[in-house]
Amino acid sequence: MSDWIKVARASDIPDPGKETLEVADTMVVLVHAGGAFHCIDDVCTHDGGPLGDGPLDGCQIICPRHGARFDVRTGKALTMPATVNVQAHEVKVEGDDVFVRLNENGG
Ligand code: FES
Repeated sequence: MSDWIKVARASDIPDPGKETLEVADTMVVLVHAGGAFHCIDDVCTHDGGPLGDGPLDGCQIICPRHGARFDVRTGKALTMPATVNVQAHEVKVEGDDVFVRLNENGG
């Protein structure tokens, strides 16, 4: 189990908003949406598109490359052409500090 890593200040990321970050050598997208923070891998499971560059639609992020949608809360692949979920990571907020704990690949 990896450690909690402080990655951002909550007040720096509006709702809705997002930021692409490198956390322990993993590129992730930290998303602020629907009053909560979520974190998923930055890499689209379809063909490696940079999810952090895609637009948000509520709690969904849209891959800028071919338009697949993922639920940022769970990483679930919602629409074609993606069929494999993207890895989601744990997030907690303490005061103004946002922490991420990376999950292993496979979820
Ligand atoms: S790379 Fe993301 S939908 Fe194709």
